[in-house]
Amino acid sequence: MCGIVGYLGKKEKKEILLDGLQELEYRGYDSAGIAVIKDRKLNHFKAIGKLKNLREKTRDFSSEGFGISIGHTRWATHGKPTELNAHPHLGQYSYVVHNGIIENYQALKKELQEDGAVFLSQTDTETIVHLFEKYHQTSNDPFDAFQKTIERLEGAYATLLITEAAPDTIFFAKNGSPMLIGFEEEDVYFASSDTPIIGKATEVYYLEDREYGYAKKGEVALFDAQGSKSFQKQTLPTDKAMAQKDGYRFFMEKEIYEQSSVISDTMIGRINDEQIHFDELESDFFDGIDAIKICACGTSYHAALASSYLFERFAKVRCDIEIASEFRYKEPLLDDKTLFITISQSGETADTLEALKMAKRAGLKSLSICNVDNSSIVRESDAAILTRAGIEKGVASTKAFATQAMVLWMLSLYLADKRQMISREQKMIEIDAMRRTPKALIVTEALHGKLHRLSKRYLHGHGFFFIGRDIFYPLALEGALKLKEISYLHAEGYPAGEMKHGPIALADSELFTIALMPKTLHYDKIKSNVEELSARDATILAISPEPFELADDFIQTLQSTHPMLEFFEMMVITQILALEISIRLGNDVDMPRNLAKSVTVE
Ligand code: F6R
Repeated sequence: MCGIVGYLGKKEKKEILLDGLQELEYRGYDSAGIAVIKDRKLNHFKAIGKLKNLREKTRDFSSEGFGISIGHTRWATHGKPTELNAHPHLGQYSYVVHNGIIENYQALKKELQEDGAVFLSQTDTETIVHLFEKYHQTSNDPFDAFQKTIERLEGAYATLLITEAAPDTIFFAKNGSPMLIGFEEEDVYFASSDTPIIGKATEVYYLEDREYGYAKKGEVALFDAQGSKSFQKQTLPTDKAMAQKDGYRFFMEKEIYEQSSVISDTMIGRINDEQIHFDELESDFFDGIDAIKICACGTSYHAALASSYLFERFAKVRCDIEIASEFRYKEPLLDDKTLFITISQSGETADTLEALKMAKRAGLKSLSICNVDNSSIVRESDAAILTRAGIEKGVASTKAFATQAMVLWMLSLYLADKRQMISREQKMIEIDAMRRTPKALIVTEALHGKLHRLSKRYLHGHGFFFIGRDIFYPLALEGALKLKEISYLHAEGYPAGEMKHGPIALADSELFTIALMPKTLHYDKIKSNVEELSARDATILAISPEPFELADDFIQTLQSTHPMLEFFEMMVITQILALEISIRLGNDVDMPRNLAKSVTVE
């Protein structure tokens, strides 16, 4: 979610860092900073907002000659986007940059404060530098202190640390967040992905989880729990555009594959043992609330609709969902015991923002679920929960939807617990399923291959119906929206039980029905609905763990024990189906016609 760059060598460090961070700005752009040690002297600069502000600040600074340097572009997770919260974070004589989330930072911070450390920021990252200096002050050995520091960290990190105590050395460690090391003669580079170092380094080593080490002039040392290791370097690719997409053909494809890991970012620090935690919410946030109204547009509206089943089912709270552009002009009746939730990937959607302002004027408490910190919707809301999907480049939303659905599932459980509406046993079932979600989101080669082959049969016809029941109805809406957006074919999402009330009149062999048939929720009901369509000769693509003999095509899913696991697995299938159809039709997958990523007009 954040971007890291590091450089050790004789070249102009500022330029290498700033150019590298430019390439990583898509990973976060609410603030940026660099720190350079040259001739034993430490310089650092930070600026909020886009990288151009940091460029401006560092205009008169130059850093030629041998030295070490680290840089960071931030996507806020703990603490607002301010200069104090921007990286690098300073101890008394050391600087650190970090990507990831230190889950035990509160306990570490307390311990360090008791020892006298003064924290300047609200970030989890700052604990790393204070911990390092604490150990360094007792051992006087910087590498030993760094090792001891990372042993204490729980959660995800890719981190670089520099210190005046070892002014020619960069310490590095990785667990759960990406980091690589680039090599070119005596020069050493660090980065969160290939792009910042393409054209600079010729060889690369992609760090594995729990590897760490140090780089200094003429020596780069690598370790893991077993001790010292040697580098298995690879030749660095030379095509930057390809590297930005991590080898995928389209950003949308990359983002579909990323879902399995970003969903862990969404959960990290929020699921502890038997509880769901949201640091963002005061413990009395839901006091006095007896209903929920959610407003959103497009894909975010579909996530909202799915969550209404969960809020009512688990938390036993009334939950109404409205399309923001409709809500604004219907003269809605609002009462101040209703919590007003907005969901938005961008945080800038005009209709959603205006709906929020209306609810606030009516005196409602507000909560936003958003992917962009400091966006207009986040700033306007009483509280905000970030979905932590990282920047989504494909116009058709994929990982933003997955992370919204996850936050809403967690929130429904959090509220159910607060309202004492859920048994411990049921809570454990949900938490266990949440932990298994990353696996349900994995795209296997076999699945993608099958959808690729199958897609050639779905390039024509007079329309698609995606059908499902319960939470699979909003998923059907979302599947149809994805297909419409990037294939330009007509598709509709429909509640399966509603087909016979009209749309079944359209059924013939040129009507393609994508049937979401989970085993864990109303299987027999949806099966009958699909049978009705099959009897009218509709072409059926069934997605189900249960073989279905009437299907023309069949994608077999895993035998899951939980509806949400089936939900996420089927979500990925509909996304890849849309992607493959769009590719075959020769469309621009990432920038479909007539669409914009952020809709800031009414
Ligand atoms: C579809 C899509 C749109 C957005 C909608 C709301 O793939 O991305 O339907 O979901 O424009 O945008 P946000 O979530 O930014 O408020």
